[in-house]
Amino acid sequence: MTEASAQQNLAGKVALVTGAARGIGRAIALALARRGADLVISDIDEDGAKQTAAAISELGRRSLAVRCDVSRRDEVEALVNETVTQLGSLDILINNAGITRDTLLVRMTEEQWDLVLDINLKGTFFGCQAAAKRMMKARAGKIINLASITGLIGNVGQANYSASKAGVIALTRTVAKELAARNIQVNAIAPGFIETEMTREVSEKARAAFLENIPLKRAGKPEDVAQLVCFLASADADYITGQCITIDGGLTIN
Ligand SMILES: NC(=O)c1ccc[n+]([C@@H]2O[C@H](COP(=O)([O-])OP(=O)(O)OC[C@H]3O[C@@H](n4cnc5c(N)ncnc54)[C@H](O)[C@@H]3O)[C@@H](O)[C@H]2O)c1
Repeated sequence: MTEASAQQNLAGKVALVTGAARGIGRAIALALARRGADLVISDIDEDGAKQTAAAISELGRRSLAVRCDVSRRDEVEALVNETVTQLGSLDILINNAGITRDTLLVRMTEEQWDLVLDINLKGTFFGCQAAAKRMMKARAGKIINLASITGLIGNVGQANYSASKAGVIALTRTVAKELAARNIQVNAIAPGFIETEMTREVSEKARAAFLENIPLKRAGKPEDVAQLVCFLASADADYITGQCITIDGGLTIN
């Protein structure tokens, strides 16, 4: 492969990214578009989704913004159907939408638990299920789920979030086993501390503690995660499935 074609190695592919109005999802969508993919940008924030879609169009790719709450099965099924109807295919699904509702275990309400599990874990299940139906017929596909290092090692104040992300990792491994015979690769990514709106809510004290413990001595950028997604979404990763890949500047080796 020439360098030029390697840079465009997702040309002709249709990718769908949930929670792509901002942050990591937006960076993933832009990076996939730079590799040549056409994009469906979905989010509950419709205006933000439209802004990301406009940036994709400026890169010369087809793009579509669709409002979708991933915790609603009917909306996720409609999103996948619209993707195929409007762009003709669904080759790559990135289950990225996620939220936090941090508080200590003893203070956590049932509502805080349910909301985080509904969006982070059930939303990922709905996405995998809706995409699988389509990808199984095509006998090809890539699904990449956003987990977190908290799903591997836990984190104070994140009982709901870390449980949801551990669930995403286990779901990923199971779906990978079920879909492998149909040539569909399913992997998870476990980012550490990445600078986005989500981590802006973290206290100065907790931020300093994170940075102190990161061997590479910096927080991650959404673009760092996006590059890993591009690799996993490409044919270069055709023999990788059921994995959870950590991207954390070394935080979990400390
Ligand atoms: N930022 C980090 O340090 C970090 C670390 C590990 C994992 N992650 C994961 O990466 C993903 C993206 O995180 P981020 O930091 O970009 O967060 P963010 O808060 O900046 O962006 C999340 C996006 O998801 C959307 N969203 C929220 N609820 C939704 C729903 N029900 N349906 C559809 N969209 C919804 C939001 O509108 C927003 O655009 C999340 O799954 C998060 O858990 C982030």
